[in-house]
This record gives sequence, C-alpha cells and structure tokens, in this order.
Amino acid sequence: MDYLLIYAHPNPKSFNHAILETLTSRFDKEKRPFQVRDLYKLNFKPSLSSEDFISFSSNTAAADIKQEQNLIEQGKTLIFIYPIWWFGMPAILKGYIDRVLSRNFAYGVNEKGPYGLLSNKKVVIINTTGGPKEHYEEGGLKDILKTTIDVGVFGFCGIKITLHKYFYAVPYIGNESRQNMLKELKAIQID
Ligand SMILES: Cc1cc2nc3c(=O)[nH]c(=O)nc-3n(C[C@H](O)[C@H](O)[C@H](O)COP(=O)(O)O)c2cc1C
Repeated sequence: MDYLLIYAHPNPKSFNHAILETLTSRFDKEKRPFQVRDLYKLNFKPSLSSEDFISFSSNTAAADIKQEQNLIEQGKTLIFIYPIWWFGMPAILKGYIDRVLSRNFAYGVNEKGPYGLLSNKKVVIINTTGGPKEHYEEGGLKDILKTTIDVGVFGFCGIKITLHKYFYAVPYIGNESRQNMLKELKAIQID
C-alpha cells in the first residue's frame, strides 16, 4: 500500500474532510493504493489503559492496536490529516499515538536510550488552523509544533517527514481561498 491516511475530524462537512476527499480522489486517479483510517468513524478507543500496558510488556497488544499496527506496516507513507486544537492534535489522534506507536513497535530502548523502529516509513502531516500564518511563522507557534510533533512523535520513532503542510485561518478566509488550498493539494509533492 502506498499511503495510509490517518484522519481525525468528527465533522464530514469540515474542511479537513474536504482535504481527505481531495487526496483520496487524487490517489484514485493516480492509481496509487491507499487506505483510510477515519478515527471518529472507527470510534477508536483513545485512552491507553492498564491492560494495554500489561499487553505491551507481553507483546500481545489488544486487537484494535494490532490492526492499526498491521496497517502501518503495510503503508509506505503515513498521511496524518487533522486540525490544530489547543495547539496540539485532537484527543482521539493523541490516543491513537499513545496506543499504536507503542514500545517495541514504534521505538525500542537499549542501554543507550530509546531508538526509532519505523525508519522505513515516511510521514506527511496536513494541518488546518484557526490562527493566522503570522502567528505560526513569526510568532514561533510553528516551531513549538515542530518540536512536539515532528521531532517529539515522528522523529522519536525514526520516521522521515516528507511534508508538513499548514493551511492557516481556515474558518476566516473565503471559500475561494479554501478552494485554492484544495487545488494546491492536488499537485503538491508528497513523497
Ligand atoms: C477544540 C478546538 C480547539 C482549537 N484550538 C485551536 C488552536 O489552538 N489554534 C488554532 O490555530 N486554532 C484552533 N482551533 C480552530 C481550528 O483549528 C479550526 O477551526 C480548524 O482547523 C478549521 O478546520 P475545519 O473546518 O476542518 O474544522 C480550535 C478549534 C477547536 C474546535
């Protein structure tokens, strides 16, 4: 599978959903095999439980975790699509990362410390924001997200980020600007 799309937005009428549709129709046209994991539709359980911890240590992860890990193994490029909420990701996606990118699957630990196990994967991140571009690019918010997401999550797992794209101020710009953003996605270099 070329692309595994991990999508986190509850509203099928959202701009994030339009991003998902734009990319999936592009991949259909390009005949690139892909699969979508719509975390809200899946009702993905986001809390890392004590049972999960026990199962990680015995290498018998819960069925829902195992299923997501199998899909990650099959996908060459993982594409995360989500809005910025409270300067982070929606809780359901944070829970996916807590549970699915687990020790001995996404990273290992030896006497020198932790090391990534997913260095054969590439990642694309597509975010939408309410805040304007200036706040993110000149106000330092983008650097904060780079540290927590690009470095703190994907870098930690050894994954190479090929694109981290932001669409800014989505609720406040006109429809024409939003359509131009979707047009840009139809041709953007992904991997
Ligand atoms: C719970 C919540 C928290 C939000 N927090 C932020 C934030 O921290 N920074 C920001 O720029 N926008 C924030 N927003 C605005 C969203 O990022 C924005 O509405 C969304 O990206 C627009 O895309 P959509 O139409 O697909 O939802 C927040 C929105 C919600 C609902």
